[in-house]
Amino acid sequence: MKIILGSDHAGYELKEKVRKQLLAEEKAVEDYGTTTEESCDYPEIGLKVAEKVAADSETVGILICGTGIGMSITANKVPGIRAAVAYNTYVAQYAREHNDANILVLPGRVVGKEMAMAMIGAWLGARFAGERHQRRLDMITDIEKKYTQSKAASRDAGTAVRGPR
Ligand code: RB5
Repeated sequence: MKIILGSDHAGYELKEKVRKQLLAEEKAVEDYGTTTEESCDYPEIGLKVAEKVAADSETVGILICGTGIGMSITANKVPGIRAAVAYNTYVAQYAREHNDANILVLPGRVVGKEMAMAMIGAWLGARFAGERHQRRLDMITDIEKKYTQSKAASRDAGTAVRGPR
């Protein structure tokens, strides 16, 4: 399982600490930026990480911004992504056990390296419990489909009306 990391400037310092620690633990890690503390826009990096995780079931993501909120809103726009913001190990563990979160989002301005690593450990160490939780995830997927499929249908209808050019 490869871990894709991403942050904005507010999460950069924590991302670097987390990246180094994960590498020290010999985890497979890929870093999608940002690479400095210079101000940048979290949706750009959040989207790149979310698209990679959605396309590759052998990956999970860790996103870090100031509060965790912007990155989670962004990542959850990508179909197939279940991004969960965690502030403690209980939430991180249940993000996997009940929600099968494939991206863990951390608040870089709120937690330090120790808590971040404890949450990552709780999340990676947990297993999805399935059963009633799978039913609920399927309901979420249905909501996703309701919007992605109706968009695709209206795009197709538009093409048909215009015809070839
Ligand atoms: C950046 O200042 C900050 O807004 C961002 O890191 C994040 O917390 C947004 O939700």
